[in-house]
Amino acid sequence: MFMNFKRIRKCQCVQLVTTCFALSVLMIYWEQLDHHVVSHIKSYSYRYLVNSYNFINASFGISRLDEESLNNVPYLINHHNKCNSKKLLLLLFIKTSPENLDQRQAIRSTWGNESYTERELGASVRVLFALGVHPDVQQRERLQHELLKEDHLYMDLIQQDFMDTFHNLTLKLLLQFRWSHDYCSQARFLMSADDDVFVHMPNLVSYLQGLAQLGVRDLWVGHVHRGSPPVRQKGSKYHVPYELYQWPSYPDYTAGGGYVVSGDVAEKIYQATLFLNASLYIDDVFMGICASAMGVYPQEHVYFSGEVKAPHHPCIYREMITSHGHNTDVRYLWKAATDPQVHNISSGLMGKLYCTAVKVLILCRPHRFSTYSCMAAFS
Ligand SMILES: *[C@@H]1O[C@H](CO)[C@@H](O)[C@H](O)[C@H]1NC(C)=O
Ligand SMILES: *[C@@H]1O[C@H](CO)[C@@H](O)[C@H](O)[C@H]1NC(C)=O
Ligand SMILES: *[C@@H]1O[C@H](CO)[C@@H](O)[C@H](O)[C@H]1NC(C)=O
Ligand SMILES: *[C@@H]1O[C@H](CO)[C@@H](O)[C@H](O)[C@H]1NC(C)=O
Ligand SMILES: *[C@@H]1O[C@H](CO)[C@@H](O)[C@H](O)[C@H]1NC(C)=O
Repeated sequence: MFMNFKRIRKCQCVQLVTTCFALSVLMIYWEQLDHHVVSHIKSYSYRYLVNSYNFINASFGISRLDEESLNNVPYLINHHNKCNSKKLLLLLFIKTSPENLDQRQAIRSTWGNESYTERELGASVRVLFALGVHPDVQQRERLQHELLKEDHLYMDLIQQDFMDTFHNLTLKLLLQFRWSHDYCSQARFLMSADDDVFVHMPNLVSYLQGLAQLGVRDLWVGHVHRGSPPVRQKGSKYHVPYELYQWPSYPDYTAGGGYVVSGDVAEKIYQATLFLNASLYIDDVFMGICASAMGVYPQEHVYFSGEVKAPHHPCIYREMITSHGHNTDVRYLWKAATDPQVHNISSGLMGKLYCTAVKVLILCRPHRFSTYSCMAAFS
């Protein structure tokens, strides 16, 4: 009897210690667990509310006066005749920063080459770089001088007088939609891309030409983030305090690295920027707020990339639209991905079967993170 009692006590004691240990581990890791798991579950279940109701719209409203001061950032470099009232398939804005000359040069000589697109793909596209001024006063003057020289050569910079910083990205978003509204409203589509993104222009153009033939409207396409929660961890680059955004979920939006809207949507987004408070500095999220205020929702395209680079393979090149994170290999990828051989490898029934098998192997392996989902293997 006595022995038994002692055993029970010991047993309970072990249980108690184990529970305490588990609880303290949970407490220590709670913030991370909350960040990675709990807040995602909460926000995903909440997203239907955020996407369908009007309360975000109401709480982001601003007065006419404030809106005018926001929307009147002066241009330092502008080319208002760039679109020249021509019929354009695409107006392509690349978000860049004053110091990123190398990236701009790589883009100009590869996927951003307007005359290549005109001549080889038969599509009229305008490519412009959107930027602000360098935040460091000491470097600003020198860089500004170089930017003017660069622009004199290429005439493709659109610069406004705001500090070009991460937390001012929403100002860059406003620049693009305002410019498009003022000077290029006839463009059939508007694309916004980062300067470290690779765009497979031949694939993009043929996709957009197909859509234009169908007379598509209300289009917003890219790599969609559904029901993403705001990051509440203080140290994070994407940290958003409750005062700025109080709900557990963002409206659906496309990754800012590269997305496309049809001309009518571009105009709607511009209209939304006139009555919404643009203090939320994550530009792609703010775009989602604008769109949901206008009743526009994003759709997924499996070959628009999320965070990282596309896998290298001709079967992928055949279909990719964007790939993210290219600082040094744009020229190499452009050469490889637009090689005429790429089309041959996937032509015919055997080619198609071969490519499906290859894509399944590349994209559907468990534990292997890829920028394109497994679904892309079957599209
Ligand atoms: C926009 O929202 C921020 C944060 O909620 C607020 O501080 C600011 O005053 C608002 N701006 C306007 C113009 O209403
Ligand atoms: C752009 O393409 C055209 C025609 O394909 C070519 O002649 C020109 O050199 C290219 N421009 C750059 C900057 O590479
Ligand atoms: C954004 O740009 C404005 C105008 O140049 C500047 O006053 C402000 O400090 C910048 N904000 C950030 C967060 O860099
Ligand atoms: C949001 O507010 C604007 C202006 O007040 C209004 O035109 C628009 O229809 C509203 N959006 C929704 C989804 O109700
Ligand atoms: C691609 O295939 C076609 C016939 O299907 C052939 O005429 C052409 O030479 C091939 N191109 C290359 C670069 O192999």
